[in-house]
Amino acid sequence: MKKLMLVSVVIITMLFTSQMNEILAQSGAIDKKVDSLLAIMTLEEKIGQMNQYSSFWNPTGPIPEGSNEQMRYNHIKSGLVGSMLNVYGVENVRAVQEIAVNETRLGIPIIFGLDVVHGHRTVFPIPLAESASWDMEAIESAARYAAVEASAAGVNWTFAPMVDISRDARWGRVMEGAGEDPYLGSKIAMARVKGFQGDDLSKPNTIAATAKHLAGYGFPEAGKDYNSVDVSHSILYNVILPPFKASLDADVKSVMNAFNSLNGVPATASHFLQRDILKEDWDFQGFVLSDWASGLEMIDHGYARDLKHVAELSVIAGSDMDMESLAYVQHLEELVESGTVEMHIIDDAVRRILRVKYELGLFEDPYKYCDLQREKELIYHPDHLEAALEMAKKSIVLLKNNNDLLPLNKKQQNIAVIGALAADKNSPLGNWRIGSEDSTAISVLEGLDKYTNDYKYVKGPDFVMEETFFHSHVNINQTDTNGFAEAIQTAKNAEVVIMVLGEHGFQTGEGRSRAHIGLPGLQQELLEAVYEVNQNIVLVLMNGRPLTITWADEHIPSILETWQLGSQSGNAIAAVLFGDYNPGGKLPMTFPRSVGQIPIYYNHFSTGRPVSHNSVFWSHYTDETNSPLYPFGYGLSYTEFEYANLSLDTTNNEAIKVMVDVTNVGDVAGEEVVQLYIQDEVASLVRPVKELKGFDKINLRPGESKEVTFTLTDQELGFYNNEGEYLVEPGKFNVMVGTNSADVLKTSFIKK
Ligand code: BGC
Repeated sequence: MKKLMLVSVVIITMLFTSQMNEILAQSGAIDKKVDSLLAIMTLEEKIGQMNQYSSFWNPTGPIPEGSNEQMRYNHIKSGLVGSMLNVYGVENVRAVQEIAVNETRLGIPIIFGLDVVHGHRTVFPIPLAESASWDMEAIESAARYAAVEASAAGVNWTFAPMVDISRDARWGRVMEGAGEDPYLGSKIAMARVKGFQGDDLSKPNTIAATAKHLAGYGFPEAGKDYNSVDVSHSILYNVILPPFKASLDADVKSVMNAFNSLNGVPATASHFLQRDILKEDWDFQGFVLSDWASGLEMIDHGYARDLKHVAELSVIAGSDMDMESLAYVQHLEELVESGTVEMHIIDDAVRRILRVKYELGLFEDPYKYCDLQREKELIYHPDHLEAALEMAKKSIVLLKNNNDLLPLNKKQQNIAVIGALAADKNSPLGNWRIGSEDSTAISVLEGLDKYTNDYKYVKGPDFVMEETFFHSHVNINQTDTNGFAEAIQTAKNAEVVIMVLGEHGFQTGEGRSRAHIGLPGLQQELLEAVYEVNQNIVLVLMNGRPLTITWADEHIPSILETWQLGSQSGNAIAAVLFGDYNPGGKLPMTFPRSVGQIPIYYNHFSTGRPVSHNSVFWSHYTDETNSPLYPFGYGLSYTEFEYANLSLDTTNNEAIKVMVDVTNVGDVAGEEVVQLYIQDEVASLVRPVKELKGFDKINLRPGESKEVTFTLTDQELGFYNNEGEYLVEPGKFNVMVGTNSADVLKTSFIKK
C-alpha cells in the first residue's frame, strides 16, 4: 500500500513537473504563462503565494505569537509560503529555495525580500543624506550598486525606496526618506527605483523595488511613529502621493502599504488607496505587500474584530501579500469557500505576484541569485566602496562657515578632536543596515589620519551608556560627566577644535521618534564648555534628522552636516574638512529652531494673517520667530555663487522659459544646485507660498558664468483638487530662482 502511494506521488509529481515545464516552454507573454500556471493551482497553493514569512535570525518586527520555526518550515514545504524576508546570503537563500523548488507540488520559487535601503554590505549614506546631494545620477547609481551587492547575496527584491514625504523631524524615519518636498521626492523615487531595477529585471544583478508606505506614514500626529494620520485630500494628492506615482512611472514592481490609519481607515484596509487610486486610476500591474503585521494590527486599531476579519478586510481592499500577520494562510481558504471573498480577488493577487517572479526570471532559474563565486567577488567590491565615497562627499551640507575657518589648511597644527562619534565605526552605518557588518564604517579619526597626525583625540564623556540591539532603544548618557575635564584641557591648548557630535546610529529610524531633537545626552553641555575655552570650533554633525542646533548656529563659526554617511563616512568628512572636496549639498528638509515650530516646511500656505500690521494678531509665536534655522534647499560652499538676470520667455504660453545667470564669484571651483520655485498667486484652492518645480546642479570654475534655463508647462503649473482632479488655472504665477528656498530672485507671468 505504502509503495503504491509512493508510486502515485512520484507519478503525480512528474505530471506536474512536466506541466510546469510545458508552461515554462511556452513562448510569448509572461501573462500567458501566469494564466497557465494559475489554472493548475489549488486554492491552498494560491493562498501560499500570498503569504510571506520572515526568517527568525534577523526579524525586523515582532514575530506574532503562536508562530514558530518548525511551523514556518512545514509551511514552506507544503507550498504555503510564496515569499521570505530577512533571508540572505547565497547559502541561506539556496537552502530555502531548494525546499520550495524540490519539495512542493508545483515547485514555485520563492521571492526573497530584504530592506536593502542604502547599500547592502557596502553601506551608502542614509537616504536623507543622499537626497541632500540633489544628484539624481549619483542616487540612481547608489541604488544600482546596492542592487548588485544584494542580488549577489541571493536577494531579489528590496523594500525600498521609502517615498514617504515628511514635515516632521521628530519622526525617526525621516532618515529613510527624501525629505519634505514632493517634487524632489518624486525625482529621487524615480532614480532609486531605476537604480534597483536596472534596465532588465531578469538580469541576475537587478532586483524588484518597493515604493512604501502607502500612504501618509510620514505624517504621524505629533511625529510619533505608527501614529494616526489625518490629512486633507489636497495634501494627500499634492504632497503625499506624487512620489508613489513617480515610482510607478519608473515601473516599480511592488508597493507596500502602511501601519497607520489614514483619515480613519488603516492603510492595509484602504480600498481607496490600494484599489481605487493605485490599481485603477494608476493602472498598477505589480503587487501590494502589507507592512510587517500591519493587517494584524488592525485589531488594535479597533477596525478588525479578529484575524479572520483582518484577512477579509485586507484582501478585499487590495493588499495582495501578507507580511507576518498569518491572516491569509490561516483564514483565506474558509473566506473563499464561504463566498465572503470572491475567487477573482485571489486570482488577481496571485497573478500579480507570479508575474513579478516571472519577470525576475525565477521560474527559468530559481537559483539565478545564488552564485557563491559572484557573491565573493561583488561584496565590498572596490567600485562599490569608491561609489559610496563619492556619494558620501556629495551628501555633506556646509551649514555655516564664518571667517572661512573651513577648509582647514593641510599643514594645520595642533588640532583637538572631541566627541565619541569621532571614533564611532557603527553610527555612520545608520539604522537600516541589515546586510552590513558591525564597525565597518571608516571613522572620522581614520579619515583624519590620512591628512594629519598632528591632532589629539579626546572622547569626552561617553555618549552612549549601553550598546544596542537592532530593535531596542539607545541608552544615552545624561549624567556621567567624566571626560569633560580632559576635553576642556585639550581644547584650551589647541589651535582649532573639531567636535563630532550628533545622534547615535540607532537613534533615528523606525520606532525612534524623539520629542527633543537637540544634541542628545551631554553633548550640548560639552559643546558649550569647550566653547568657553576655545571658540575656534568646527562642528561636525552626525545625525539622521534635522536637529534644533540653534545655540550652535549662534556661536560656532563652522558647521558641517554629515548625516550618517555609510562605509566611507570618515574619508568623505576628512576630504571636505581639508578642502579636497568642496561641499555642495543642500538640505532636503527644513531645520527648525525649536520643536514647537514643527511641522515646519517651506511650501506652506500663506494664511490670512501672514505678516504683522503693528498688532499681535498675526500668525506667529510670541516666543519664537517664524523662520526656520536653515530653510529647505539651503547649503553653502567654499566658493560663492551670484544670481542675476532672471528673465522669462512667454512666447509659448504652454512652455514658458525661465533663464538665470549664475556666476562663481569665489576662488575655487564648486557645485551649485540652482532651484526654481513657483507660486500660483490666486487659485480655487489655496496654494503654497512656494513650490519647487525644477533644479539643476551645475559645476562652475572660479569666475565662470552659466545661463541656466528651465521650462514651465502644465505639468509644473497645475495642482490636484480635493476630488483628485488635476487643474491648471489661468492667472498670475510668481517665479523664483535661487540658491535655497528663502533666498531667491523673483519675477512673474500671466498664464492664459
Ligand atoms: C517596516 C518596513 C519594512 C518591514 C520589513 C517594517 O517594520 O515598516 O518598512 O520593510 O518592517 O523589514
